[in-house]
Amino acid sequence: MAVGVFDSGLGGLTVLDAVSKRLPDVPFVYLGDNKHAPYGVRDANDVYSLTCAATERLWDAGCDLVILACNTASAAALRRMQENWIPREKRVLGVFVPLIEALTERQWGDNSPPREVAVQHVALFATPATVSSRAFQRELAFRAIGVDVEAQACGGLVDAIEEGDMILAEALVRSHVDALKRKMPTPQAAILGCTHYPLMQDIFQDALGPDVAVYSQANLVAESLADYLKRHPNMMGSGEQSMFLTTGDPKRVSDHATQFLRRRIQFEAA
Ligand code: DGL
Repeated sequence: MAVGVFDSGLGGLTVLDAVSKRLPDVPFVYLGDNKHAPYGVRDANDVYSLTCAATERLWDAGCDLVILACNTASAAALRRMQENWIPREKRVLGVFVPLIEALTERQWGDNSPPREVAVQHVALFATPATVSSRAFQRELAFRAIGVDVEAQACGGLVDAIEEGDMILAEALVRSHVDALKRKMPTPQAAILGCTHYPLMQDIFQDALGPDVAVYSQANLVAESLADYLKRHPNMMGSGEQSMFLTTGDPKRVSDHATQFLRRRIQFEAA
């Protein structure tokens, strides 16, 4: 009864942490494609092939349901995977929709027509690939009317976080927030549209100021997954054991993961 959680690297651990706390009895198999991270500077075909390969690995580990805890994969590959690649008995879900449902004050899975919502000026921080896909704006337009979104591609930030260079990561967050504020001086809300960015959430909040509501995905995805599994209990796969898999160097990835989550995490080769 395992569920798969995938990211290009370590960012999806922010989601894994939240889903494991919300669903303590569910075993999760985490796969980080650290060998090929970052995805945010790759083209859509490349992200698609890598995401399909990682998803197959998680199916092999007994996870019929796979969460793409990666906005870049959700934005650049998920729609194409759902259209013609995923077999009937498997499911792959992304991390965008729960965030947009929260931003637009909807119940999980509410697909009613778009309507006016309280927030009107939203800053989106994401990888270059997510920003250029415009997937966030598309999903938002299905649900809300008249929301002005200014997107800031945060080049370099995922590399700095993956390398554990938090001084560089902080400098990049502050300069990307400055760049955003030149385009949209007073956003009401900011979306951290990359699962690596919650590791820098305090710096984003500090740079944006206390009046900006910062949304990050981990807890929202955990709530929506709990709701999904209640409605689709048959999607719990056959796997029984929690595991951390990586395509990168297990020792190096384990050390960085342990530093991020402040608890010992042991990765094994995927
Ligand atoms: N954490 C990922 C995301 O949410 C991946 C970023 C990357 O690999 O560039 O977009």
